[in-house]
Amino acid sequence: MPKIADVLRGALTGQDIELKGWIYRTRTIGGKAFVVLRDSSGVLQVAVSRESVPADQFEGAERALIESAATAKGTIVADKRAPGGYEMRAKEFHVVSFAEKFPIQQDLSEEFLLDVRHLWVRSQRMTSIFRVRHTVFGAVHEYFRGEGFFEVHPPMITPVGSEGGATLFNVEYFGKKAYLTQSWQLYAEALALSMEKVYYIGPSFRAEKSRTTRHLTEYWHCEMEEAWAGMDDVLKHAERVIEHAAHRAAEENPEDLKFLGRDPDLLVKVHTPFEHITYDEALRRLKAKGMEIEWGKDLRTLEERALTEGMGQPIIVSRYPRVSQAFYKRRDPANPELVLGFDVIAPDDVGEIVGGSERETDLEYLKQAIVEFGEDPAHYEWYLDTRRFGNVQHAGFGMGMERLIQWICKLDHIRDAIPFPRTPARFSP
Ligand code: 4AD
Ligand code: MG
Repeated sequence: MPKIADVLRGALTGQDIELKGWIYRTRTIGGKAFVVLRDSSGVLQVAVSRESVPADQFEGAERALIESAATAKGTIVADKRAPGGYEMRAKEFHVVSFAEKFPIQQDLSEEFLLDVRHLWVRSQRMTSIFRVRHTVFGAVHEYFRGEGFFEVHPPMITPVGSEGGATLFNVEYFGKKAYLTQSWQLYAEALALSMEKVYYIGPSFRAEKSRTTRHLTEYWHCEMEEAWAGMDDVLKHAERVIEHAAHRAAEENPEDLKFLGRDPDLLVKVHTPFEHITYDEALRRLKAKGMEIEWGKDLRTLEERALTEGMGQPIIVSRYPRVSQAFYKRRDPANPELVLGFDVIAPDDVGEIVGGSERETDLEYLKQAIVEFGEDPAHYEWYLDTRRFGNVQHAGFGMGMERLIQWICKLDHIRDAIPFPRTPARFSP
Protein backbone atom coordinates (compact mmCIF):
# COMPACT_ATOMS: atom_id res chain seq x y z
CA MET A 1 0.00 0.00 0.00
CA PRO A 2 1.39 3.45 -0.90
CA LYS A 3 2.32 5.91 1.85
CA ILE A 4 1.77 9.65 1.91
CA ALA A 5 5.52 10.24 1.57
CA ASP A 6 5.41 8.49 -1.83
CA VAL A 7 2.71 10.93 -2.93
CA LEU A 8 4.76 13.91 -1.70
CA ARG A 9 7.78 12.63 -3.64
CA GLY A 10 5.67 12.96 -6.79
CA ALA A 11 5.84 9.22 -7.47
CA LEU A 12 2.05 8.70 -7.74
CA THR A 13 0.78 11.78 -9.56
CA GLY A 14 -2.15 10.98 -11.82
CA GLN A 15 -2.73 7.59 -10.22
CA ASP A 16 -5.72 6.27 -8.29
CA ILE A 17 -4.63 4.96 -4.88
CA GLU A 18 -5.97 4.13 -1.44
CA LEU A 19 -4.62 5.72 1.75
CA LYS A 20 -5.28 4.81 5.37
CA GLY A 21 -4.70 7.31 8.13
CA TRP A 22 -5.97 9.70 10.75
CA ILE A 23 -7.54 13.12 10.35
CA TYR A 24 -4.94 15.71 11.17
CA ARG A 25 -6.94 18.80 10.30
CA THR A 26 -10.24 19.43 8.60
CA ARG A 27 -12.34 22.27 7.22
CA THR A 28 -15.37 22.49 4.98
CA ILE A 29 -15.85 25.17 2.37
CA GLY A 30 -19.06 25.12 0.38
CA GLY A 31 -19.59 21.62 -0.89
CA LYS A 32 -16.02 20.50 -0.22
CA ALA A 33 -14.39 18.99 2.85
CA PHE A 34 -10.61 19.45 2.94
CA VAL A 35 -9.38 16.67 5.16
CA VAL A 36 -5.67 16.57 5.92
CA LEU A 37 -4.84 12.92 6.45
CA ARG A 38 -1.83 11.75 8.45
CA ASP A 39 -0.03 8.42 8.19
CA SER A 40 3.34 7.35 9.58
CA SER A 41 5.14 9.00 6.69
CA GLY A 42 3.55 12.47 6.44
CA VAL A 43 0.35 14.46 5.84
CA LEU A 44 -1.69 14.98 2.68
CA GLN A 45 -4.78 17.00 1.85
CA VAL A 46 -7.72 14.95 0.66
CA ALA A 47 -10.45 16.93 -1.10
CA VAL A 48 -13.82 15.28 -0.56
CA SER A 49 -16.53 16.97 -2.58
CA ARG A 50 -20.26 16.45 -2.32
CA GLU A 51 -20.50 15.56 -6.02
CA SER A 52 -17.73 12.96 -6.05
CA VAL A 53 -18.60 10.66 -3.15
CA PRO A 54 -21.85 9.09 -1.86
CA ALA A 55 -23.83 11.38 0.45
CA ASP A 56 -23.15 9.43 3.67
CA GLN A 57 -19.40 9.50 2.97
CA PHE A 58 -19.43 13.26 2.45
CA GLU A 59 -21.43 13.68 5.63
CA GLY A 60 -18.84 11.54 7.48
CA ALA A 61 -15.93 13.62 6.16
CA GLU A 62 -17.71 16.79 7.22
CA ARG A 63 -18.58 15.54 10.68
CA ALA A 64 -15.41 13.65 11.65
CA LEU A 65 -13.26 15.39 14.26
CA ILE A 66 -9.48 15.35 14.21
CA GLU A 67 -7.83 12.03 15.03
CA SER A 68 -10.75 10.10 13.57
CA ALA A 69 -9.41 7.15 11.57
CA ALA A 70 -10.26 7.12 7.87
CA THR A 71 -9.53 5.52 4.53
CA ALA A 72 -9.66 7.36 1.22
CA LYS A 73 -9.55 6.30 -2.41
CA GLY A 74 -8.96 8.79 -5.19
CA THR A 75 -6.71 10.43 -7.75
CA ILE A 76 -3.45 12.15 -6.87
CA VAL A 77 -2.98 15.56 -8.47
CA ALA A 78 -0.25 18.17 -8.18
CA ASP A 79 -1.79 21.30 -6.68
CA LYS A 80 0.29 24.27 -5.54
CA ARG A 81 -2.46 25.42 -3.16
CA ALA A 82 -2.30 22.19 -1.16
CA PRO A 83 0.24 21.85 1.65
CA GLY A 84 3.18 19.86 0.27
CA GLY A 85 2.05 20.57 -3.31
CA TYR A 86 -0.14 17.46 -3.79
CA GLU A 87 -3.73 16.56 -3.14
CA MET A 88 -5.95 13.53 -3.38
CA ARG A 89 -9.34 14.07 -5.08
CA ALA A 90 -11.43 11.50 -3.24
CA LYS A 91 -13.78 9.07 -4.94
CA GLU A 92 -14.45 7.23 -1.69
CA PHE A 93 -14.03 8.38 1.90
CA HIS A 94 -14.76 6.09 4.84
CA VAL A 95 -14.53 7.12 8.46
CA VAL A 96 -13.34 3.99 10.25
CA SER A 97 -13.84 5.41 13.74
CA PHE A 98 -15.21 8.78 14.82
CA ALA A 99 -12.94 10.37 17.44
CA GLU A 100 -14.06 12.20 20.54
CA LYS A 101 -12.94 15.81 20.90
CA PHE A 102 -9.14 15.60 20.84
CA PRO A 103 -7.63 17.03 24.04
CA ILE A 104 -4.69 18.70 22.27
CA GLN A 105 -6.24 21.85 20.85
CA GLN A 106 -5.04 25.20 22.12
CA ASP A 107 -3.02 24.38 25.22
CA LEU A 108 0.42 23.45 23.96
CA SER A 109 2.36 24.08 27.16
CA GLU A 110 5.25 21.68 27.68
CA GLU A 111 3.77 20.21 30.85
CA PHE A 112 0.40 19.56 29.24
CA LEU A 113 2.01 17.96 26.20
CA LEU A 114 3.96 15.68 28.54
CA ASP A 115 0.73 14.74 30.34
CA VAL A 116 -0.80 13.70 27.01
CA ARG A 117 2.42 12.32 25.55
CA HIS A 118 0.58 9.16 24.44
CA LEU A 119 -1.42 11.40 22.06
CA TRP A 120 1.28 13.96 21.33
CA VAL A 121 3.43 11.15 19.82
CA ARG A 122 1.16 11.55 16.76
CA SER A 123 2.27 15.13 16.12
CA GLN A 124 4.26 16.18 13.08
CA ARG A 125 7.10 17.19 15.38
CA MET A 126 7.31 13.87 17.19
CA THR A 127 6.87 11.73 14.09
CA SER A 128 9.66 13.67 12.35
CA ILE A 129 11.94 12.99 15.30
CA PHE A 130 10.95 9.31 15.40
CA ARG A 131 11.90 8.89 11.76
CA VAL A 132 15.30 10.45 12.36
CA ARG A 133 15.74 8.36 15.51
CA HIS A 134 15.00 5.25 13.47
CA THR A 135 17.65 6.25 10.93
CA VAL A 136 20.23 7.05 13.63
CA PHE A 137 19.76 3.71 15.41
CA GLY A 138 20.07 1.89 12.08
CA ALA A 139 23.19 3.86 11.18
CA VAL A 140 24.91 3.03 14.46
CA HIS A 141 24.23 -0.70 14.05
CA GLU A 142 25.35 -0.48 10.44
CA TYR A 143 28.58 1.24 11.41
CA PHE A 144 29.68 -1.22 14.09
CA ARG A 145 28.66 -4.30 12.15
CA GLY A 146 30.54 -2.94 9.14
CA GLU A 147 33.63 -2.57 11.31
CA GLY A 148 33.48 -6.19 12.47
CA PHE A 149 31.96 -5.65 15.93
CA PHE A 150 29.69 -8.27 17.49
CA GLU A 151 26.45 -7.14 19.07
CA VAL A 152 26.34 -8.64 22.57
CA HIS A 153 24.04 -7.84 25.45
CA PRO A 154 24.76 -7.12 29.11
CA PRO A 155 22.29 -7.57 31.98
CA MET A 156 20.10 -4.66 33.07
CA ILE A 157 19.90 -5.83 36.69
CA THR A 158 23.33 -5.65 38.28
CA PRO A 159 25.00 -6.26 41.64
CA VAL A 160 27.34 -3.23 41.39
CA GLY A 161 27.63 0.00 39.42
CA SER A 162 30.51 1.41 37.43
CA GLU A 163 29.79 5.12 37.39
CA GLY A 164 29.38 5.89 41.08
CA GLY A 165 26.74 5.04 43.69
CA ALA A 166 25.04 8.44 43.67
CA THR A 167 23.21 7.82 40.40
CA LEU A 168 22.24 4.16 40.90
CA PHE A 169 18.58 3.14 40.94
CA ASN A 170 17.94 0.49 43.57
CA VAL A 171 16.02 -2.65 42.81
CA GLU A 172 14.70 -4.89 45.53
CA TYR A 173 15.74 -8.27 44.22
CA PHE A 174 14.02 -11.01 46.24
CA GLY A 175 15.18 -9.47 49.49
CA LYS A 176 18.61 -8.54 48.17
CA LYS A 177 19.89 -5.21 46.94
CA ALA A 178 20.44 -4.84 43.21
CA TYR A 179 20.65 -1.94 40.77
CA LEU A 180 19.52 -0.93 37.31
CA THR A 181 22.49 -0.69 34.98
CA GLN A 182 24.21 2.66 34.47
CA SER A 183 26.48 1.32 31.75
CA TRP A 184 27.53 -2.04 30.43
CA GLN A 185 31.12 -1.09 31.31
CA LEU A 186 32.15 -3.96 33.57
CA TYR A 187 30.44 -6.58 31.41
CA ALA A 188 31.91 -5.04 28.26
CA GLU A 189 35.40 -5.58 29.57
CA ALA A 190 34.58 -9.22 30.28
CA LEU A 191 33.00 -9.63 26.83
CA ALA A 192 35.88 -7.92 24.99
CA LEU A 193 38.16 -10.68 26.25
CA SER A 194 35.73 -13.12 24.71
CA MET A 195 34.55 -11.55 21.42
CA GLU A 196 37.28 -8.88 21.09
CA LYS A 197 35.20 -6.21 19.32
CA VAL A 198 31.78 -5.77 20.91
CA TYR A 199 29.00 -3.18 20.93
CA TYR A 200 25.38 -2.85 21.92
CA ILE A 201 22.58 -0.31 22.18
CA GLY A 202 20.31 -0.60 25.19
CA PRO A 203 18.83 1.33 28.07
CA SER A 204 20.92 2.81 30.88
CA PHE A 205 19.48 4.28 34.04
CA ARG A 206 20.75 7.24 36.05
CA ALA A 207 19.10 8.40 39.24
CA GLU A 208 20.19 11.92 38.42
CA LYS A 209 18.06 14.55 40.11
CA SER A 210 19.46 17.33 37.94
CA ARG A 211 16.75 18.87 35.79
CA THR A 212 18.64 19.92 32.73
CA THR A 213 17.95 19.94 29.01
CA ARG A 214 20.27 16.97 28.50
CA HIS A 215 19.59 14.48 31.29
CA LEU A 216 17.11 11.64 31.30
CA THR A 217 16.85 9.05 34.05
CA GLU A 218 16.40 6.35 31.40
CA TYR A 219 18.28 6.72 28.14
CA TRP A 220 19.52 4.56 25.31
CA HIS A 221 23.20 3.94 25.51
CA CYS A 222 25.38 2.80 22.63
CA GLU A 223 28.52 1.28 24.05
CA MET A 224 31.51 -0.40 22.46
CA GLU A 225 34.59 -2.13 23.81
CA GLU A 226 37.63 -3.34 21.92
CA ALA A 227 40.49 -5.59 22.97
CA TRP A 228 44.02 -4.95 21.67
CA ALA A 229 43.08 -1.28 21.31
CA GLY A 230 43.97 2.00 23.01
CA MET A 231 42.27 5.36 23.45
CA ASP A 232 43.19 6.66 20.01
CA ASP A 233 41.76 3.55 18.33
CA VAL A 234 38.32 3.80 19.90
CA LEU A 235 38.25 7.55 19.59
CA LYS A 236 38.31 7.08 15.82
CA HIS A 237 35.25 4.87 16.05
CA ALA A 238 33.48 7.51 18.16
CA GLU A 239 33.94 10.25 15.61
CA ARG A 240 33.27 8.00 12.65
CA VAL A 241 30.04 6.58 14.03
CA ILE A 242 28.79 10.12 14.65
CA GLU A 243 29.81 11.15 11.14
CA HIS A 244 28.02 8.12 9.70
CA ALA A 245 24.82 8.79 11.66
CA ALA A 246 24.83 12.48 10.65
CA HIS A 247 25.28 11.63 6.98
CA ARG A 248 22.62 8.93 7.05
CA ALA A 249 20.09 11.25 8.68
CA ALA A 250 20.81 13.92 6.06
CA GLU A 251 20.32 11.34 3.28
CA GLU A 252 17.25 9.62 4.66
CA ASN A 253 15.35 12.41 6.41
CA PRO A 254 16.15 15.80 4.86
CA GLU A 255 12.54 17.00 5.02
CA ASP A 256 12.11 15.99 8.65
CA LEU A 257 15.35 17.73 9.57
CA LYS A 258 14.27 20.93 7.84
CA PHE A 259 10.91 20.74 9.59
CA LEU A 260 12.76 20.52 12.92
CA GLY A 261 14.98 23.47 12.09
CA ARG A 262 18.18 21.57 11.29
CA ASP A 263 19.76 22.31 7.92
CA PRO A 264 20.65 18.90 6.48
CA ASP A 265 23.64 20.50 4.69
CA LEU A 266 25.31 21.05 8.02
CA LEU A 267 25.10 17.30 8.64
CA VAL A 268 26.35 16.48 5.14
CA LYS A 269 29.42 18.59 5.90
CA VAL A 270 30.26 16.70 9.11
CA HIS A 271 33.67 15.17 8.52
CA THR A 272 36.33 13.33 10.47
CA PRO A 273 38.79 13.76 12.05
CA PHE A 274 37.07 16.01 14.56
CA GLU A 275 39.14 18.68 16.21
CA HIS A 276 40.90 17.06 19.19
CA ILE A 277 42.23 19.07 22.12
CA THR A 278 43.45 18.14 25.58
CA TYR A 279 41.74 19.08 28.81
CA ASP A 280 44.59 21.51 29.50
CA GLU A 281 44.05 23.15 26.12
CA ALA A 282 40.31 23.36 26.86
CA LEU A 283 41.10 25.25 30.08
CA ARG A 284 43.36 27.63 28.14
CA ARG A 285 40.61 28.30 25.59
CA LEU A 286 38.07 28.89 28.32
CA LYS A 287 40.43 31.24 30.13
CA ALA A 288 40.80 33.24 26.91
CA LYS A 289 36.99 33.57 26.98
CA GLY A 290 37.15 34.82 30.55
CA MET A 291 36.17 31.52 32.21
CA GLU A 292 38.62 30.48 34.89
CA ILE A 293 38.30 26.75 35.75
CA GLU A 294 40.14 25.20 38.65
CA TRP A 295 42.40 22.42 37.30
CA GLY A 296 40.84 19.05 38.05
CA LYS A 297 37.22 20.20 37.83
CA ASP A 298 35.00 18.57 35.24
CA LEU A 299 33.69 20.75 32.45
CA ARG A 300 30.14 21.88 33.10
CA THR A 301 27.38 22.66 30.63
CA LEU A 302 28.26 26.31 30.31
CA GLU A 303 31.91 25.48 29.68
CA GLU A 304 31.06 22.86 27.09
CA ARG A 305 28.79 25.43 25.46
CA ALA A 306 31.58 28.02 25.40
CA LEU A 307 34.06 25.50 23.93
CA THR A 308 31.81 24.54 21.02
CA GLU A 309 30.21 27.92 20.38
CA GLY A 310 29.65 28.51 16.67
CA MET A 311 31.05 25.11 15.64
CA GLY A 312 29.34 22.99 12.99
CA GLN A 313 30.41 19.64 14.41
CA PRO A 314 31.54 18.09 17.68
CA ILE A 315 35.04 18.32 19.15
CA ILE A 316 37.04 15.85 21.23
CA VAL A 317 38.57 16.67 24.60
CA SER A 318 40.96 14.12 26.07
CA ARG A 319 43.34 13.50 28.96
CA TYR A 320 41.23 14.59 31.89
CA PRO A 321 42.63 14.86 35.43
CA ARG A 322 42.49 11.54 37.23
CA VAL A 323 40.65 13.00 40.23
CA SER A 324 36.88 12.63 39.92
CA GLN A 325 37.16 10.11 37.07
CA ALA A 326 35.83 6.54 37.26
CA PHE A 327 38.25 3.95 38.66
CA TYR A 328 38.66 1.90 35.48
CA LYS A 329 40.23 4.63 33.33
CA ARG A 330 43.87 4.05 32.53
CA ARG A 331 46.45 6.54 33.81
CA ASP A 332 48.35 8.37 31.11
CA PRO A 333 51.86 6.81 31.06
CA ALA A 334 53.22 10.27 30.20
CA ASN A 335 51.55 11.90 33.21
CA PRO A 336 49.91 9.77 35.93
CA GLU A 337 47.83 12.77 37.07
CA LEU A 338 45.81 12.33 33.87
CA VAL A 339 43.74 9.50 32.47
CA LEU A 340 43.53 8.28 28.89
CA GLY A 341 39.92 9.33 28.79
CA PHE A 342 37.99 11.45 26.30
CA ASP A 343 34.66 13.10 25.72
CA VAL A 344 33.07 14.06 22.42
CA ILE A 345 31.30 17.38 22.88
CA ALA A 346 28.59 18.55 20.50
CA PRO A 347 27.67 22.16 19.73
CA ASP A 348 24.18 23.70 19.93
CA ASP A 349 24.14 23.36 23.74
CA VAL A 350 24.00 19.58 23.65
CA GLY A 351 27.43 19.02 25.21
CA GLU A 352 28.97 15.64 25.96
CA ILE A 353 27.59 12.96 23.68
CA VAL A 354 30.35 10.38 24.16
CA GLY A 355 32.50 9.45 27.12
CA GLY A 356 35.23 6.85 26.77
CA SER A 357 38.67 5.72 27.80
CA GLU A 358 41.40 3.19 27.67
CA ARG A 359 41.04 0.85 30.66
CA GLU A 360 43.48 0.36 33.49
CA THR A 361 45.15 -3.06 33.28
CA ASP A 362 47.18 -3.01 36.53
CA LEU A 363 45.35 -5.28 38.99
CA GLU A 364 46.82 -3.83 42.18
CA TYR A 365 46.27 -0.25 41.05
CA LEU A 366 42.65 -1.08 40.15
CA LYS A 367 41.92 -2.53 43.58
CA GLN A 368 43.20 0.64 45.19
CA ALA A 369 41.33 2.86 42.72
CA ILE A 370 38.08 1.04 43.56
CA VAL A 371 38.64 1.87 47.24
CA GLU A 372 39.42 5.51 46.41
CA PHE A 373 36.20 5.53 44.39
CA GLY A 374 34.38 4.66 47.62
CA GLU A 375 33.56 1.08 46.68
CA ASP A 376 34.40 -2.31 48.16
CA PRO A 377 36.80 -4.31 45.91
CA ALA A 378 35.18 -7.49 47.23
CA HIS A 379 32.07 -6.60 45.19
CA TYR A 380 34.22 -6.37 42.08
CA GLU A 381 36.02 -9.70 42.40
CA TRP A 382 34.45 -11.13 39.27
CA TYR A 383 35.41 -8.00 37.31
CA LEU A 384 38.99 -8.17 38.56
CA ASP A 385 39.25 -11.63 36.99
CA THR A 386 39.51 -9.79 33.64
CA ARG A 387 42.93 -8.63 34.87
CA ARG A 388 43.90 -12.04 36.24
CA PHE A 389 43.09 -14.04 33.12
CA GLY A 390 44.18 -12.87 29.68
CA ASN A 391 44.71 -9.25 30.65
CA VAL A 392 45.36 -7.08 27.54
CA GLN A 393 45.12 -3.46 26.52
CA HIS A 394 41.51 -2.51 25.80
CA ALA A 395 39.36 0.58 25.49
CA GLY A 396 35.78 1.62 24.83
CA PHE A 397 33.16 4.30 25.04
CA GLY A 398 29.51 5.04 25.70
CA MET A 399 27.37 7.34 23.57
CA GLY A 400 24.04 8.75 24.66
CA MET A 401 21.70 8.04 21.72
CA GLU A 402 19.24 10.77 22.77
CA ARG A 403 22.04 13.33 23.01
CA LEU A 404 23.19 12.36 19.53
CA ILE A 405 19.62 12.65 18.24
CA GLN A 406 19.18 15.93 20.13
CA TRP A 407 22.15 17.35 18.28
CA ILE A 408 21.26 15.90 14.86
CA CYS A 409 17.67 17.19 15.13
CA LYS A 410 18.73 20.46 16.83
CA LEU A 411 16.32 19.94 19.74
CA ASP A 412 16.27 22.36 22.66
CA HIS A 413 15.51 19.58 25.09
CA ILE A 414 16.57 15.94 25.26
CA ARG A 415 13.06 14.78 26.25
CA ASP A 416 11.85 15.08 22.66
CA ALA A 417 14.57 12.70 21.45
CA ILE A 418 12.71 9.76 23.06
CA PRO A 419 9.00 8.85 22.78
CA PHE A 420 8.22 8.62 26.49
CA PRO A 421 10.85 10.53 28.47
CA ARG A 422 11.73 9.62 32.02
CA THR A 423 12.91 12.53 34.13
CA PRO A 424 13.13 13.12 37.91
CA ALA A 425 9.67 14.70 37.86
CA ARG A 426 7.90 12.20 35.62
CA PHE A 427 7.54 8.52 34.85
CA SER A 428 4.11 8.49 33.27
CA PRO A 429 2.37 8.03 30.89
O1 4AD B 1 30.10 9.47 30.43
P1 4AD B 1 29.32 8.27 30.90
O2 4AD B 1 28.81 8.29 32.28
O3 4AD B 1 30.27 7.03 30.64
C1 4AD B 1 29.99 5.73 30.92
O4 4AD B 1 28.96 5.32 31.37
C2 4AD B 1 31.06 4.80 30.47
N1 4AD B 1 30.99 3.58 31.28
C3 4AD B 1 30.85 4.50 29.00
C4 4AD B 1 31.85 3.52 28.45
O5 4AD B 1 33.02 3.83 28.40
N2 4AD B 1 31.38 2.36 28.03
O6 4AD B 1 28.09 8.06 29.92
C5 4AD B 1 28.31 7.89 28.54
C6 4AD B 1 27.36 8.77 27.75
C7 4AD B 1 27.52 10.27 27.99
O7 4AD B 1 28.57 10.81 27.22
C8 4AD B 1 26.18 10.81 27.59
O8 4AD B 1 26.10 10.95 26.19
C9 4AD B 1 25.24 9.68 27.99
O9 4AD B 1 26.02 8.51 28.13
N3 4AD B 1 24.57 9.98 29.25
C10 4AD B 1 23.30 10.42 29.36
N4 4AD B 1 22.37 10.66 28.42
C11 4AD B 1 21.15 11.08 28.85
N5 4AD B 1 20.82 11.24 30.15
C12 4AD B 1 21.73 11.01 31.13
N6 4AD B 1 21.40 11.15 32.40
C13 4AD B 1 23.04 10.56 30.73
N7 4AD B 1 24.15 10.22 31.42
C14 4AD B 1 25.07 9.87 30.50
MG1 MG C 1 30.93 11.28 31.00
